[in-house]
Formats: sequence, C-alpha cells, structure tokens
Amino acid sequence: ASSETISARLLAWYDAHARDLPWRAPPGSPPPEPYRVWLSEVMLQQTTVAAVKEYFAKFTRTWPEVTQLAAARDEDVMAAWAGLGYYARARNLLACAREVAARGGTFPDTEEELRKLPGLGAYTAAAVAAIAFDRRAVVVDANVERVVSRLFAIERELPAARPEIRDGAETITPDARAGDFAQAMMDLGATVCTARDPRCLLCPLSEPCAARAGGDPARFPVKAPK
Ligand code: ADE
Repeated sequence: ASSETISARLLAWYDAHARDLPWRAPPGSPPPEPYRVWLSEVMLQQTTVAAVKEYFAKFTRTWPEVTQLAAARDEDVMAAWAGLGYYARARNLLACAREVAARGGTFPDTEEELRKLPGLGAYTAAAVAAIAFDRRAVVVDANVERVVSRLFAIERELPAARPEIRDGAETITPDARAGDFAQAMMDLGATVCTARDPRCLLCPLSEPCAARAGGDPARFPVKAPK
C-alpha cells in the first residue's frame, strides 16, 4: 500500500475510534490551545493517560492560562505535581511557562522554535507543533515505535533501530491533519497494536502490515536480549 493509503486508512479509523481525552479536540476540528497540548504532553511523557487525567484537570482548573501558571509560586506548582514524579520536569514546566509568558503568553508555532523552550525535547516539540499548530512533524513515542516497527517488520534491534523507525514514520506522515495523524498512531498503539497481544483483526493497517503477514507481530519491536 502507498503511504497515502496508509495515512488515509489510519485517519478514517481515528475519525471513528479516537479516544475522548480532556486535552484533545475531536478529530477534524480546530486544534486545542497550545498551553493544553504542551501541558498534557509534558505530563504524558512519564505517566499513563489514566493517571494524567486527574493532574491535567487540577492544573487547568488552578491555572487556566499559561500566564497564570507562570505567575504561580514554585512551591504551589511542585505541590500540585506531587505524585507525577520526575520533579525536574515540574521545574522545567515552570521555566517554560515563564518564558512563554515573557513572550506575551504565546507559544512559538514551529518545531524548531518550540525545541528551544525549557524541557521541550524532540518528542514534545514535534507533538506540540503537530497537535496544536497542525504542522507536519514526525512524532515518535513508544507506541508509534511499536506500530512502525511492525508495519515495516523492522528486524534491527532497539535502540539501534530508532533511525530506521523514524524514517518509516516520516514516510507515512501526511501533510494534512498532522496532529490527528500523530494521535491516531498513539491510539492505535495504545488500544489495538498493543505490546503483548496485537488485535490485528481490528487494525486498519493489517492489510499493509509486514509483521502481520509474517505471522508473529508481537515479535516487534525487536529488543536486544537483556
Ligand atoms: N501519549 C502522549 N501524548 C498523547 C496524546 N496526545 N494522545 C494519546 N496518548 C498520548
């Protein structure tokens, strides 16, 4: 199947099956505020969707705008973060909010500029560019790694396979609906193309999937023996 067929199938699946999450806009609708996208992506880097929901609600209730978070006392933000772990992230969160506030409360709208903000690594910058600004960006988290490594049956082991996985993700990323595409890949990985028990019968990409054709999709991504 062509890359266009793959992205079109995935987006059609997302239109029907997107998870309804508090930081998301429904498929095909205008993007949510960058502040909400950024906050959720920072939280989701270390924590499950289920656990993040409560923290996201608390943060957005207490500090509805990035400028309000920027003006918060450090202790209050650290206390609200308690339980999420990785406290360096909370410090970076506050540093980032203050930098955005100093820019007038507006997040930069390109991956390259987002990358310069405190705490924004390659993943977060790409995710915010795609989801909040509808920029074409290649967004690769662990779910996406699993989906791509199966779709192309990448035999190289992690972590050495990362460049190849990234190339595969780049090939299938469409120009339009980049944010929906990124989140569709994440949802597919979280709900269908799961680590232990891939549900290929429900998968919109089963036909073009090389790992499925090989008969043992759960073998991917291949990991170095421990
Ligand atoms: N994991 C990280 N970011 C996510 C998102 N936007 N939707 C679902 N899962 C995610």
